[in-house]
Amino acid sequence: MYTEITKGHYQFTVLKGRHCGFINYCYLMIDLYSREAVIIDPAWELDAIVHVITQADAKLTKILLTHSHSDHVHLVDALLRRYNPQVYMSRQEIDYYGFTCRNLNPVHDGEMIPFTQSSITCILTPGHTAGGVCYLWNGILFSGDTVFIEGCGMCSGPGGCPNGMYESIQRLKKLLAPEVRIYPGHCYGREVGCTFGYVMANNLYFQIENKEMFISFRMRSNQKNLFDFQ
Ligand SMILES: [Fe+2]
Repeated sequence: MYTEITKGHYQFTVLKGRHCGFINYCYLMIDLYSREAVIIDPAWELDAIVHVITQADAKLTKILLTHSHSDHVHLVDALLRRYNPQVYMSRQEIDYYGFTCRNLNPVHDGEMIPFTQSSITCILTPGHTAGGVCYLWNGILFSGDTVFIEGCGMCSGPGGCPNGMYESIQRLKKLLAPEVRIYPGHCYGREVGCTFGYVMANNLYFQIENKEMFISFRMRSNQKNLFDFQ
């Protein structure tokens, strides 16, 4: 299932995929002049991704990965075989989890990845994993499993760190304008694409200023399930 939006000369496609109870969002941007395509966190829906790229007569040149969890990197190898794109992930994430694939480029905080006449800024946001990255492009933040509309990512897995998540959220609060649109890796409530102003006003994790309080709330043991972000 996908939704297409045109932003200037870019076609922006939101792909919603389902697998074993997971709903993942991956995002495809195509420059309609150069026919270059970039994808964020490809998973589950290979046919839909190939269909959108083919319809636009485009070529996939870059895969940007927010982190290394399997539901975000699932289609990397299949897309490498088909299009041979460059792949991007943070140096910290690669080193901590030993992630490897062909054409892998480690990125660092603040790095700008060129995308035709624009660029995509890497913002290192550890917390959910050791080296999670959010990607900022054209007024859009691809927030992976760091920021959800309703909450933030779990910090109890390997490499997770609630202190890191607190610092990442405080950093995003300073960096992002209220009109930036948030496109996360999962969403089970409102539609993806809310403004950051909406998240600031409605997401509890952005309202807790005290670090200790944030950490104990994030690590509480009575959370109903993985997808209960609040
Ligand atoms: Fe994850």
